[in-house]
Amino acid sequence: MIILGIETSCDETSASVLEVDGQNSKPILKSNIISSSLKLHQKTGGIVPEIAAREQVKYIIPVIKEAISKADIKNSQIDTIAVTYGPGLLGSLLVGVETAKTLSFIWKKPLVPVNHLTGHVYANFIEGIPDFPAIGLIVSGGHTDLILINGHGAIKWLGGTRDDAAGECLDKIGRLLDLPYPAGPQIEELAKKGNINRFHFPSPLIDSSDFDFSFSGLKTAVLREVEKIEHLNNQTIADISVSVQKAIIDVLIKKTLMVAKKHDARSILLGGGVAANQKLRDEFEFEIKNLKLRIPLFVPEKWLCTDNATMIASAAFFNYKPKSLLKIDADPSLHF
Ligand code: KG4
Ligand code: ZN
Repeated sequence: MIILGIETSCDETSASVLEVDGQNSKPILKSNIISSSLKLHQKTGGIVPEIAAREQVKYIIPVIKEAISKADIKNSQIDTIAVTYGPGLLGSLLVGVETAKTLSFIWKKPLVPVNHLTGHVYANFIEGIPDFPAIGLIVSGGHTDLILINGHGAIKWLGGTRDDAAGECLDKIGRLLDLPYPAGPQIEELAKKGNINRFHFPSPLIDSSDFDFSFSGLKTAVLREVEKIEHLNNQTIADISVSVQKAIIDVLIKKTLMVAKKHDARSILLGGGVAANQKLRDEFEFEIKNLKLRIPLFVPEKWLCTDNATMIASAAFFNYKPKSLLKIDADPSLHF
């Protein structure tokens, strides 16, 4: 089956062609094109929804054309189209959903609407096939969710952030530290030169027995420190970065492993932009070994952690439920 995936939930415009021949055969990635309006948003320190959507209107057709041409297939060879219908920015989602509906109508191909969060989970099914039940941790700019995956189409939400998402917290702290948006990758780089003993920031809810997170207090704790500092030099920014990163990583790992043990998980799946963080990936591996858990950890390649259309095509294959065009609408506040 050849799937054309389309993803436009935030500032990226992405299209991908993925060939999958069966649930146990490795998908063949034929192309993945991503165009981002990130540079335009760096000036404002965050995404301006109208600008993102306006850029996506310009790029959606060229990006889809390029994905098909790079995959070296004809339009007629596409078996099905998959599109993100939520959650995300309304204007951005509409660009993808309406384009996908139009192509589905003209080409007479089925259309599978995909939840963006489910897409992040299925980025893990490109390289391997995790066993169920699996615990998923989705950590992105908009979400921090712990889920139980009992099988394809059987996802149960177990907990999540009560306020800011982990990536959102990194991006807001980045603004306090004058770092360009998105700050996650910058904080990861700077943390390598930081002194872990200089600042101690809280890992909120780390000792609570639920599976919730809270990151807005961490941002406030950093603000308090920054207010005390007269001149924010590079070393201080690095020292703050390393402690912020640790505070976030510690709580993410502790709660994920706690929930994995509780549910006798046979695999742990990470997903979302923050999962691209190498320190998070290394610490997860370390802690799983340290606790002798014997649960395989699945982490997508870094480019598959941040938003892309390949994960949307993958999710559509494993949860193949085409819907009538009349019943597909963008849903900005969709949950698991
Ligand atoms: O999944 P994603 O591309 O978009 C959303 O669905 O939100 O995630 C973007 C988020 C941003 O907050 C960004 O700062 C964070 O992921 N991020 C990282 C890294 N790369 C991206 N955070 C920490 N370390 C990274 N290497
Ligand atoms: Zn995402």
